[in-house]
Amino acid sequence: MSSDSHKTLKLEEVISENHNVMAEEKPVINVGLQGIYIDESSICKVDGVLGKLYYRGYSIEELANNSSYEEVAYLLLYGSLPKKEELENFESQLKANRTLSESTIGIIKSMSKKAHPTDVLRTAVSSLAAEDLEMSDNSEDANFRKAVRLIAKMPTILAVIDRTRNDLEIVPPDASLGHTDNFMYMLTGNKPNELQSKLINLMFILHAEHSSNASTFSALVTGSTLADLYAAVTSGVATLKGPLHGGADEAALKMLKAIGSPANTETYINDALAGKQRIMGFGHRVYKTYDPRAKLLRGYLEESVNSAPPDVKNLTQIALAAEEIMIDRLGQSHGIWPNIDFFAGPLYVWAGVSADLFTPIFAASRVVGWCAHMIDYWRDNKLFRPLEYYTGQLDLKYVPIEKR
Ligand SMILES: CC(C)(COP(=O)(O)OP(=O)(O)OC[C@H]1O[C@@H](n2cnc3c(N)ncnc32)[C@H](O)[C@@H]1OP(=O)(O)O)[C@@H](O)C(=O)NCCC(=O)NCCS
Repeated sequence: MSSDSHKTLKLEEVISENHNVMAEEKPVINVGLQGIYIDESSICKVDGVLGKLYYRGYSIEELANNSSYEEVAYLLLYGSLPKKEELENFESQLKANRTLSESTIGIIKSMSKKAHPTDVLRTAVSSLAAEDLEMSDNSEDANFRKAVRLIAKMPTILAVIDRTRNDLEIVPPDASLGHTDNFMYMLTGNKPNELQSKLINLMFILHAEHSSNASTFSALVTGSTLADLYAAVTSGVATLKGPLHGGADEAALKMLKAIGSPANTETYINDALAGKQRIMGFGHRVYKTYDPRAKLLRGYLEESVNSAPPDVKNLTQIALAAEEIMIDRLGQSHGIWPNIDFFAGPLYVWAGVSADLFTPIFAASRVVGWCAHMIDYWRDNKLFRPLEYYTGQLDLKYVPIEKR
């Protein structure tokens, strides 16, 4: 026996011994990673039993009633509420980074005007990586600067997408306006009125962060390979699109419109449930009670519905009727309650935002949550690599194609 074959034999013995040690028993399988904790984090707490949500220790009600999106973004990214100067500095950084390059605008213009804005947003966000001069710098400081660029540019991207597809002139950012007011200005060409201003700021705050949901997890999986922040955020946008996640707000409004009138609500829901359809904007993997964000939006709608235009009034009445029926059928018994996406539609309609912008607006807000989690995770990075229990065959013999 040559010394080489001796080595091979020893290696095979070692591998076989190792294999015996690792012999597989059927493991507990958590499909969809349900109930699995992936890490510790001090960014966000979702209390699915009590229906509470906290960003860095502050309840969502506290922030929604008192704060601006910029302040909440700072809180999520850096861990504490900013002092006056810190906030001013952060706002200036955001303003300085709002403008898009000709190349990003060109990419948006080159895409079909019929494309869903979330798809165009995903591509435009991905393209930002190509022009970031700090791409090869993976230091935490550089990643914070990249996060600021992403947060600053995503609303502009969205406004450019919407203006381009509607054959309207692109409106450059206005440095006298805050983050969300400027977004509405770039989107509509007009400075927002008080209602629009309040609603969009509220939506951005409520959507900014939500722990290890599907899109944040997806961003983390991408970043855990030590890919860059743009790659992670692009994954986040892609994952957010689905109707079981961020796409539910658009789907819920579509459903409210399909119901048409409060009187038709019960028949519609009965038929949908009998046909095993999901009622969009209801149910949540973690909240088995009323989503506190949905409660805030519902409260706002109920409070102000009398001054709303007729279409918003009608949508609100349908939503309230659907809520009552769903809670009666599936609330206490199945833990299926309204989530944030259910009441968002009528409010966006009131603010003059079209339905296919709901999800990309969600992305333009959630980008801060994705970045905060990513930067935090990189401090003690571990590649995500879950397992799959194989149930197929083994050692099949290769059959040449002509004999199959
Ligand atoms: C969000 C969602 C995926 C979480 O669900 P989950 O905890 O993974 O639970 P499952 O998808 O396994 O559903 C469990 C059961 O509840 C039912 N269910 C869940 N959400 C439902 C809904 N919105 N309408 C009707 N039935 C629903 C399912 O049909 C399933 O019933 P079954 O056991 O008889 O098959 C789910 O509630 C859903 O699809 N909701 C609608 C989409 C939505 O609003 N998404 C936004 C979330 S913020």
